[in-house]
Amino acid sequence: MKDTIILGIETSCDETSAAVLKGGDLLSNVISSQIDIHRRFGGVVPEIASRNHLTAILPVIDEALDKAGVQKTDIDAIAVTYGAGLVGALLVGVSAAKALSYALNVPLYAVNHIEAHIAANYISSPELKPPFLAVVASGGHTGVCRVDGLNKFTMLSSTTDDAIGEAFDKVARAIGLPYPGGPEIDKLAKQGEANIKFVERKRNKELSYSGLKTAVINYLHTLSQRGQSPVIADVCASFQQTAVDMLVDAALSAVKKSGIRTVVAAGGVSANSYLRSKLKAEGEALGATVLFPPMSLCTDNAAMVAIRARHMMEEGVPSAGLDLNAKSYLKIEG
Ligand code: KG4
Ligand code: ZN
Repeated sequence: MKDTIILGIETSCDETSAAVLKGGDLLSNVISSQIDIHRRFGGVVPEIASRNHLTAILPVIDEALDKAGVQKTDIDAIAVTYGAGLVGALLVGVSAAKALSYALNVPLYAVNHIEAHIAANYISSPELKPPFLAVVASGGHTGVCRVDGLNKFTMLSSTTDDAIGEAFDKVARAIGLPYPGGPEIDKLAKQGEANIKFVERKRNKELSYSGLKTAVINYLHTLSQRGQSPVIADVCASFQQTAVDMLVDAALSAVKKSGIRTVVAAGGVSANSYLRSKLKAEGEALGATVLFPPMSLCTDNAAMVAIRARHMMEEGVPSAGLDLNAKSYLKIEG
């Protein structure tokens, strides 16, 4: 395993990415983002995403191999995200991975996207070892996951409706901010005050984002009907604080209940500056070590897919066959 070379491939949403991992060292992580293409539609258009993955996938793989100084014939295993995500988008990566695995006669590892987001932390914090808690905050998943082994994941709590990233993007859209809304809200919130109470905060209650999103949209409609304009920065700060505090509370309650004192963050919303500072401050106040991937490993990338597959290989998790299919929905497995 020491010098095993893994090619990771990620195409679950609007980023086409390929990465080369040699042993524990990340040699390259190329990300081609379609954000500029989807922005004018206000969100990701699945069919357009698939078409753009198709044109990007081979050049992105070639670039990742070039940057790593690795030939295709040096590859020992292929790792690909097979879910959750947009099926048409996932299929592009899965098909490329299957073709490479067959042509090079190397095993193919089917990677769960959220488990990969969690695994990104092993790249940025090589000292990280289970057990730890992972705060999952992405466009499709939200909750707290207990990680008891390299391949042992148990969700302790999950949103009952929308994901946090989805709420950021929908609120941003209602305000008139460009896609993706999360980073825009993060930026504007820094200039505002969290002085609007959209919903009653229920401490340590279930995670839910649909009610908060609707409350913000209703607030904006009510003001507009009265001919008034919202203070956008305050709306952003207030929404962001409520959305993030709910998740941080769930994480802190898991720290207290489990006694586990290492917390990592995973997924695109873990790039959020308020989430980072709040989780760190409150986690550390409970005596926990709080770790975050760097920004480049927070949003979708193939480095996290490759490291996830390395851990599957290390513990003998079976590789996939050429009948591997893409899955729009995938549970985090234990
Ligand atoms: O993990 P990710 O790249 O894709 C999924 O697996 O879903 O997450 C994308 C989400 C989007 O909703 C985006 O708005 C959000 O992450 N995001 C942020 C920030 N950066 C990205 N949300 C809040 N603050 C940010 N700085
Ligand atoms: Zn993701």
